[in-house]
Amino acid sequence: MLILGIESSCDETGVALVDAGAAGTPRLLGHALHSQIEMHQAYGGVVPELASRDHIRRVLPLTEATLQQAGCTLQQVDAVAYTKGPGLAGALLVGAGVACAMAAALGKPTLGIHHLEGHLLSPFLSADPPEFPFVALLVSGGHTQLMRVDGVGRYTLLGETIDDAAGEAFDKSAKLMGLGYPGGPALSRLAQRGDPAAFKLPRPLLHSGDLDFSFAGLKTAVLTQAKKLGDALEARKADLAASTQAAIVEVLVKKSMTALKETGLKRLVVAGGVGANAQLRADLNQACAQRGVRVHYPELHLCTDNGAMIALAAGMRVQAGLADLGIDPTTSYQFQVLPRWPLADVALPSGMAA
Ligand code: KG4
Ligand code: ZN
Repeated sequence: MLILGIESSCDETGVALVDAGAAGTPRLLGHALHSQIEMHQAYGGVVPELASRDHIRRVLPLTEATLQQAGCTLQQVDAVAYTKGPGLAGALLVGAGVACAMAAALGKPTLGIHHLEGHLLSPFLSADPPEFPFVALLVSGGHTQLMRVDGVGRYTLLGETIDDAAGEAFDKSAKLMGLGYPGGPALSRLAQRGDPAAFKLPRPLLHSGDLDFSFAGLKTAVLTQAKKLGDALEARKADLAASTQAAIVEVLVKKSMTALKETGLKRLVVAGGVGANAQLRADLNQACAQRGVRVHYPELHLCTDNGAMIALAAGMRVQAGLADLGIDPTTSYQFQVLPRWPLADVALPSGMAA
């Protein structure tokens, strides 16, 4: 079964084609991606209206490129998946609209996919895929969550951020250091030359006894430190970047280890854009090795938003019998997006097997 997946929730347009046969993980046949980073750079952050317009420009050429890579035609596609939420409403509408129009023209079903489920399952496309059950650390620009994952659709939230996401902490700290957008990769690059112990920054909720996170205070502490440095900031920027990264990474690693201990699970999956961070990977690898825990990451290029994870999640849902492939001509192509959409809404009631 060939499933085309379209991702357009934020500043990346991604399209991919997977083959979700009866057995085994869906196979990625082709994928194409366009990042809008350059376009938004001038504004220091994502401009939603510009993002939507660019998705419109990119989505069909990317679809053609994907099909060409896969050696398939649009007529061979059996279902069209798209990111239904969460994300920017206008941006989501582009992917949803195009996916539903394509599916209607083909007379094939559509599948609205949860963006975080895509991230969560993305390590299944790696050379070293995980096995269920596992603890998932989901760290993106908009979300920071620890989850227990027992199967497709079997997600239990263990803890989450009560304010900013980890990616937001990277981005906002980077912005006030004048590092531009997106801040995460820029800050981590600069941090390589800095001393992570140079500045004492808070580790919010490190000892809170639960699995929740808080990163808003860290950003304020970075701002205070930057102001204190004044003219000296330029010379100490690498140290401040390294100290900021160390604070974020330490909290993420500690809470992940607590989640593993509490669940008794021996497998960790890390997903979302911040999962590309080299320091986070190094520290998690070390902490997991000490505890006999196996840790899995998506391929580096599939950490940030992409179409492959959406097509994959759709394929895994189909294989698990969780997708409605029926077609009702009056309702199937009426698309709806959900800019705010808790992952719990796509999880099976607890106790139900997928
Ligand atoms: O998953 P993603 O592409 O988009 C969302 O769903 O939010 O994640 C984007 C986030 C941004 O905050 C970006 O700064 C962060 O991931 N990020 C990084 C790195 N690469 C991307 N943060 C730290 N280090 C990185 N290498
Ligand atoms: Zn994402």
